[in-house]
Amino acid sequence: MAGEGSKKLWGGRFAGETDKLAEAFNNSLDFDRRLWREDLDGSRAHARMLARQGILTEEEARAILAGLDRIEKEIEAGAFPWRDEYEDVHMNVEARLTELVGEVGGKLHTARSRNDQVATDLRLWLRRSLAGIVEAQQELARVLVAEAERHLEPPVVLPGYTHLQRAQPVLLSHWFMAYYEMLSRDTTRVLDALFRMDESPLGAAALAGTSFPIDRHYTAEQLGFLEPMRNSLDAVASRDFVLEALSAIAIGQLTLSRLAEELVLYSSFEFGFVTLPDAFATGSSIMPQKKNPDIPELIRAKAGRAIGDLVTLLTVVKGLPLAYNKDLQEDKEPVFDAVDTYTSSLKLMAALLPGLTWHPEVTKRAATGGFALATDLADYLSRKGLPFRRAHAVVGRIVRKLQEEGRDLDDLDLDELRSFSELFDEDALALLSVEGSVSSRNVYGGTAPEQVRARIAEAKKELEEDGS
Ligand code: ARG
Repeated sequence: MAGEGSKKLWGGRFAGETDKLAEAFNNSLDFDRRLWREDLDGSRAHARMLARQGILTEEEARAILAGLDRIEKEIEAGAFPWRDEYEDVHMNVEARLTELVGEVGGKLHTARSRNDQVATDLRLWLRRSLAGIVEAQQELARVLVAEAERHLEPPVVLPGYTHLQRAQPVLLSHWFMAYYEMLSRDTTRVLDALFRMDESPLGAAALAGTSFPIDRHYTAEQLGFLEPMRNSLDAVASRDFVLEALSAIAIGQLTLSRLAEELVLYSSFEFGFVTLPDAFATGSSIMPQKKNPDIPELIRAKAGRAIGDLVTLLTVVKGLPLAYNKDLQEDKEPVFDAVDTYTSSLKLMAALLPGLTWHPEVTKRAATGGFALATDLADYLSRKGLPFRRAHAVVGRIVRKLQEEGRDLDDLDLDELRSFSELFDEDALALLSVEGSVSSRNVYGGTAPEQVRARIAEAKKELEEDGS
């Protein structure tokens, strides 16, 4: 069913009316008004450049700049008349400008198109938003390092897992630092994206450049870009800068989802390693014993959104012919959503972690049980000269026997050990402690306290340098 039409207020090439449903479908104001600040900045740079090049008179440029200032105040005060009949933020600003300063407002769009305008606005917006993300990442990084340091003395030990089977004991600090390393790489990915998007599309106009003698280097510099983009078709057609941001965000949200998942598991009754702070959990409406890890669960789930946002835009851009296509209007909602999602997830994770209560007796018991120290015994035998494969087999026999008898490694005494291999001596018993096991992994990047302490010290320096 076609909607009732209204007179087209813009463009004016068609005398006919636009279908109401089509108009609503085409409208992007609801979401792209978020770009208003960047739109004003872009327009100011453009107007100044037009005057500098003699394309506008100084007086015209002054009137336009004054109008843009008034619009800024109106928007900030919530007094700006946003109107759906001007389908997006760009046309709303321009229409208002003309109302405020008269006919001369129409001269702002000289040598410009919404195609280069929107690409410029979005780069400016993303630049600012990604800088905010890097800040939130660094805050979380500081929390991770602080938590790692806090649990180093006395050292908290927990089981490390492979296949979610108890594998070998590790320091809780080492676990925290693993997430620190992942997060640091997530940050460098965002910085990489920022680096490559540092070019200005402004002046590419609709797609081919313009016949006016504009200065694209000047506007690029005014807007804080490194340089203008070198090809006008590319400038209006490309959204790889958004895709890179979305991809860095999706990967970053994956890191958070893994951390969140471990918190969900470790705070369960079955693990009992950690208790979530009340402020970040909820009770059940019918089961009084429950404390639900809602916040970690949501952070885990929001990885789905972030991935969806990336896949949405990848799919939109795939196969698009050069140059601008209206399809590209669909870049905004995913990127706004991804930025909001990741920023709030980072902040919540940073707020939640310091409130965790770890239970070192429980984690230590778990790290001791389940034959988590079996590798240490095998390593011992191979240090005594037994080929590792054979050592592995000997310890395998020990584990099987103990399992059959419902016992664990720390039930062993020296006599029983020696019944499996003559190579066992008194010092083997020391290996059956988690502390001994952890300390023995004293290799670069390993979980021994000495290694972890050194890495924490380095990380603190890295964060100081980034913060300055
Ligand atoms: N709202 C549009 C967008 O977001 C602005 C550019 C429109 N350009 C055009 N030629 N229709 O992409």
